[in-house]
Amino acid sequence: MATITVRNLDEQTKQAIRERAARNGHSMEEEARLLLGAGALADNPERVLTSIVNMAEPEATVENYAPGSQHYFPARGKTVLLIICGGIAAYKSLDLIRRLKERDVEVNVVMTRAAGEFITPLSAGALSHSKVFTDLFDRQDEHDIGHIRLAREADLIVVAPATANMIAKISHGFADDLASAILLASKNQILLAPAMNPAMWNNPATRRNVEALLKDGVQFIGPETGEMAERSEAGRGRMTEPMDIVGEIGRLLDDRPKPLAGLSVVLTAGPTHEPIDPVRYIANRSSGKQGYAIADALAAAGAEVNLVSGPVELARPAGINFFQVESARQMHQAVKNCLPVDIAVMVAAVADWRVANSADEKIKKKPGSTGPVPLKLTENPDILKFIGHHEQRPKLVIGFAAETRDVIKNAKAKLKRKGADWILANDVSPETGIMGGDSNTIKLLSSSGVDEWPNLAKDQVARRLVDKIIAYFDSEIISV
Ligand SMILES: Cc1cc2nc3c(=O)[nH]c(=O)nc-3n(C[C@H](O)[C@H](O)[C@H](O)COP(=O)(O)O)c2cc1C
Repeated sequence: MATITVRNLDEQTKQAIRERAARNGHSMEEEARLLLGAGALADNPERVLTSIVNMAEPEATVENYAPGSQHYFPARGKTVLLIICGGIAAYKSLDLIRRLKERDVEVNVVMTRAAGEFITPLSAGALSHSKVFTDLFDRQDEHDIGHIRLAREADLIVVAPATANMIAKISHGFADDLASAILLASKNQILLAPAMNPAMWNNPATRRNVEALLKDGVQFIGPETGEMAERSEAGRGRMTEPMDIVGEIGRLLDDRPKPLAGLSVVLTAGPTHEPIDPVRYIANRSSGKQGYAIADALAAAGAEVNLVSGPVELARPAGINFFQVESARQMHQAVKNCLPVDIAVMVAAVADWRVANSADEKIKKKPGSTGPVPLKLTENPDILKFIGHHEQRPKLVIGFAAETRDVIKNAKAKLKRKGADWILANDVSPETGIMGGDSNTIKLLSSSGVDEWPNLAKDQVARRLVDKIIAYFDSEIISV
């Protein structure tokens, strides 16, 4: 067995091991030994350890994914009892089963008789890889009072779609079929995802039933506002999308520590699109990946995240408040609407200028004209500066600076000018990979100096930043 002299490790590696050890409840020595594993036998264990900590952090990354993520899911290995009722949205519950199974959640399915009019137990069983229960008086299942067993074995009972009928039954304690008997016999958390016609949802009887269930501690997700399956009907009543239900299930079953619980964040991500005319726009190469990874990591640490996103090709993260915008002016307004918050993380690559003379109609080429239509640009609002000097300034204001040269010099100037506490500068010159890649080389500037990070995957950058935010608020609490 080789030995490691902690003194020989660089500061960054020591800090990373310290943070991991604290997170995992180990001593530094134990954490180093665990990380190193077989590498302890290598010629130069210090070097091996440094590269493990700085390059590949599979455990740390996996541990800290947000509730909806497929990489790590807080409900992994837990059991969800899914009750499917008889509504049009029942077909979406098949997708819900699939998404949960992908995340290694054990799914037991109960279908009401009416649900069987919309989907078959065969498809639900094929997706959940287990028998689907439908009958309260099933001789095989009820020899050991199967409905009580199903109620007790689940970590969470999810009713999706929850019909007006089922909501009425459970709010009054009926138990005249398998689903309602399970719900009455359950001592577990119950999550309802209602889906019904807006008139049914708004009916005073349904309102009373929902109110009573909320008082009893039953959780609800949705319904959402939008178009109904019925032709030309719209309003509140659509079932929440399966991925958002997955996010909520993750949140309800997430028992990891939540160091940022009680803190709120506004975070911007992605590019902005500045219209030239209704079909053309000016944009940049930002992919939104870094901002989305930070949103994920902040949510996993328990913060209430408000993500204001420009147009990107990424799946909307689960378990956070999401605001879709296009232009810098819309982003500015959405950020303003989120105030007051404790933390601002401005990751979006906001266009500095917009087209002052943008057209309401598509600009056409004119036959015989000599050249293109001149575009007149005007400055966009500076969102970071706005928030850094706002009377409701968040306690911690963090900005990103994408620079193609003089990275530190430009970022230092930005730190002061914008009223930010930290600037994460990244070199986006063509030699280092421009924007849109999967990694970043960050230099974190603050009033105490420059912290240079190695090239890290964007989710690792997110983790490291969130660890710093946690440490910042820890020290805040101590000094109070
Ligand atoms: C085509 C069709 C669609 C329906 N969609 C819904 C619905 O989306 N939400 C709802 O609450 N009821 C809906 N119903 C009515 C329910 O199926 C009915 O109330 C049934 O008794 C519910 O039984 P369950 O709660 O035991 O599943 C629908 C009925 C039909 C025929």
